[in-house]
Amino acid sequence: SGTYQFVVVANRLPVDAAEDGGWTRSPGGLVTAVHPIVRRLGGAWVGWTGGADEEAEPFDFDGMHLHPVGLSARDIDRFYEGQSNATIWPLFHDAVEQPVHHREWREAYEAVNRRFADATAALAAEGATVWVHDYQLMLVPAMLREHRPDLRIGFFLHIPFPPVELFMQLPRRADLLRGLLGADLVGFQRPLAAQNFLQLTERLLGLSPKEDRVEVDGRTVTARAFPISIDVDEIEELANDPEVREQARHLRQELGDRRLLLGVDRLDYTKGIEQRLKAFHELLRDGTVTNEEAVLVQVATPSRLRVAQYQQLRDRVELEVGRINGEFGDVGRAPVHYLFQSRDRAELVAMYLAADVMVVSPLRDGMNLVAKEYVAARVDDGGALVLSEFTGAAAELDESFLVNPHDVEDLKRGMCAALAASPQDLAGRMRTMRAVVHEHTVDRWAKEFLDALADVS
Ligand code: UDP
Ligand code: G6P
Repeated sequence: SGTYQFVVVANRLPVDAAEDGGWTRSPGGLVTAVHPIVRRLGGAWVGWTGGADEEAEPFDFDGMHLHPVGLSARDIDRFYEGQSNATIWPLFHDAVEQPVHHREWREAYEAVNRRFADATAALAAEGATVWVHDYQLMLVPAMLREHRPDLRIGFFLHIPFPPVELFMQLPRRADLLRGLLGADLVGFQRPLAAQNFLQLTERLLGLSPKEDRVEVDGRTVTARAFPISIDVDEIEELANDPEVREQARHLRQELGDRRLLLGVDRLDYTKGIEQRLKAFHELLRDGTVTNEEAVLVQVATPSRLRVAQYQQLRDRVELEVGRINGEFGDVGRAPVHYLFQSRDRAELVAMYLAADVMVVSPLRDGMNLVAKEYVAARVDDGGALVLSEFTGAAAELDESFLVNPHDVEDLKRGMCAALAASPQDLAGRMRTMRAVVHEHTVDRWAKEFLDALADVS
């Protein structure tokens, strides 16, 4: 065994290998949430560098020990793009895109999970706490326990856990379930997800779950909801930074006196970007809003671009943006500003501060940290949040303008209500939501999970 008392295991390291040989921040909500925790607690982080780099060496970074697991081009193809992001990701998000099944992908998933488990077993000290994250590594808890029954093993799923009937469609579904049952504590974003998981242990393995627990091989596994959150202090600091505020003012100036609607997402089919564009298109067509009055800025961060469903989404989104701008734009003034780019946190906070209406419209999302970041950034109590009911965040941010993005009429209604609301109404809503986000920070999330893990194991 190794020397680390605390080991985090996630498909991605907090930093990505950049083309110039340096490191950039990795994409996505998992890293946003878990990075500040590991930086504060110290410890090792086992993960992938984001490239076909089988030789990457361990290194220390920002108070953490980063331990790369190398993936070959073929692993990336089968484990990451295939099983993780063309099978499990769509299936766990209500199958809003059809999940694809391949035997070779499942084999690669198992082999890569084994390598993560082996690397972790070699790093963790006797009796250490290991925290495994997300859908790419669901077999790791059981693989780890096999070699290292001394460890305290927690697992957290950042994405939704599907309804029982949908999970049942997965080939080798019982293996995945057994993989997760290797943990002492399995955490989810929502209580319903924990219930689905426990129900499946009965249906697939004939176990007898009681309350939030199930006995398996003489051990107790606990399953519970731990809704994730953000580093509120970090966002507030940025929101109060004079340079960021100047950037926000500049952005507003550039757009003239038009109302600014904002979307910020990885370019992913779960995010409801197409529905958002369709709603905006119809509002322009109805004449409810005009190009002189309103503008939609959509940051669509490149993601998983070699996966077919993501390429097709990109094509559809870019076609629709072209149509809207062609029909309703003017020289020097387009209704949609589409940014197929990644923006850093300071730039995002400047955009949050500038936006009159933040539109968060996923068809399904485990949590959605962008919604919470927007609320945390509005230290001025300004702005309105339109939020899909199908996000984990909706359970906490019920003072937002809640919408069903599958229903374009409802999405339009929400956007219009947000545009028409009085500043007093909006300030009241924003204050209430800011209090919620303040109350429940990412530090509290981690503490609750790790305390519960210590309790149950
Ligand atoms: N993000 C970013 N730059 C971008 C787009 C997104 O830093 O160009 C960050 C964003 O601030 C948030 C995270 O990526 O912290 C996205 O998390 P979320 O839960 O909203 O969605 P996910 O990408 O995890 O599905
Ligand atoms: C979501 C997932 C993470 C993933 C991130 C970015 O947040 O829950 O596990 O890391 O998206 O996706 P990527 O495929 O680039 O790692």
